[in-house]
Amino acid sequence: MKKFFSYSASVLKEDAKTRRKIFISRVFAIAGTALLLTFMMVFARAVEFSQFNLFTEWKTYLTIIVLAILTTIIISTLFVYSMYINDDTSNANKILPIMSLAIIITYVLAIAFGRLINIYVVPLTLLSLLIASLIDKRVGIATNVLMSQAFFLSYVFIYGTDMTVAATSALITSIVSACFLIIYVDKARTRVSYIVAGIVVAVCTAVIPMLINLISADNPDAYTILMSGMWSFVSVILSVALYMLILPIMEVIYRVDTPFRLSELSSLDSPLLKRLAKEAPGTFSHSMSVAALSELCADAIGESSQLARACAYYHDVGKLKDPEYFIENQTGYNPHDDVIPEVSVSMIVSHVTAGYEMIKAAHLPDIIADVALEHHGTTPVNYFLYKAQNYTEEDVNDSEFRYPGPKPKSKISAIIMIVDTVEAATRANKNTDDPEKFREFVRKLIKSKMDAGQFSECDISFGDLGKIEDILVRAIPSMHHERIKYDIKKKA
Ligand SMILES: [Fe+2]
Ligand SMILES: [Fe+2]
Repeated sequence: MKKFFSYSASVLKEDAKTRRKIFISRVFAIAGTALLLTFMMVFARAVEFSQFNLFTEWKTYLTIIVLAILTTIIISTLFVYSMYINDDTSNANKILPIMSLAIIITYVLAIAFGRLINIYVVPLTLLSLLIASLIDKRVGIATNVLMSQAFFLSYVFIYGTDMTVAATSALITSIVSACFLIIYVDKARTRVSYIVAGIVVAVCTAVIPMLINLISADNPDAYTILMSGMWSFVSVILSVALYMLILPIMEVIYRVDTPFRLSELSSLDSPLLKRLAKEAPGTFSHSMSVAALSELCADAIGESSQLARACAYYHDVGKLKDPEYFIENQTGYNPHDDVIPEVSVSMIVSHVTAGYEMIKAAHLPDIIADVALEHHGTTPVNYFLYKAQNYTEEDVNDSEFRYPGPKPKSKISAIIMIVDTVEAATRANKNTDDPEKFREFVRKLIKSKMDAGQFSECDISFGDLGKIEDILVRAIPSMHHERIKYDIKKKA
């Protein structure tokens, strides 16, 4: 409940006066939105039936106020719930503006289409889809159930109880279709495949109003029943089409990375990935393998597979700065032969900061840049550390041979760190023939990261690590390729 009063964790430390101000501004924002929605509905009815004398009757104002209070209670419930389940405090101050704008847009469209075309053509599914993509799927489902009821409750009170059957049919269709479309929103790879899913859901849910109409009249009329199904189909398709149109605009306004945006970023047409394929083909091939494996691992531990794939594609773009210094891009000549280990290691470790800067400069999402910076954590570059130790009798300062960090701060970052290490080590060692030995090999690599404290800043669990190990042991043997083997051993 504390979160309802504050925009971010830091504000919690502010005095009670500030918290009270934030609370009041939020209550006013929600109540203002609710009042606007109810007033729009009454005004639409007055315009449609030329009943402007409605605004001279006290009962109209009572209806507006009561419906606005009910809508305020419902929106507040949704807002408190979304703050309760929201883990990312940086997104907290976006929730109310996103929610309010999505509700207002949907109400305007629902009133317009519902009155201009047919009561069955109310694209309320649009609202739940926007909330599911921009805030959270669970909030999307809650919004779906609560806001659909709020809308149709207001509709019946403002337009009269003779709309009850039509409103109930539209309400149930909207709730059912939105549930299926929200579940599918993470699975759809492209916007086109999502439209196809919309058509399937629209066909299946068209049966709902037809069944309700079948029992709602004494003499069911086949034309009315068929038309109710047809309009319901149009309503779901319209919701999906409007969602496709409005979502990109809201993605830009609120800088939110939806599954669709992440899928588009993973397109190999992106300028940075095109450069990687051309200038560092070895790194590109490695990144593709890391992406395929990270996607499976993310899925296994309940993280976004699209996000894992996008992060994996870009995790090593910093190698574009000096691709020939990385073994996977060398075809014979090795520039490390001409420089001392200290220079070599500075070239190697700089790819994490270079990648971070390139991703930021390309205006890609922050999480992709963070993963590029964190994917080696603070691990040492052992190959050059051992090489330096072999060159000198003096003690080598091993902190000079480490990546700068930070350590992974998210589960996605931890996944990329593990998959990156295991994929590269498997390419080098080609030891996937014996499943038991390979499992032992993967387990040791994961354990070495854990023992080095690389997961101390993210909330990945032992259970998650076990699932990741399982996925890698099963998937890697079928996809590893040749890689030059490291053969320098630590000086005794
Ligand atoms: Fe890397
Ligand atoms: Fe890598």
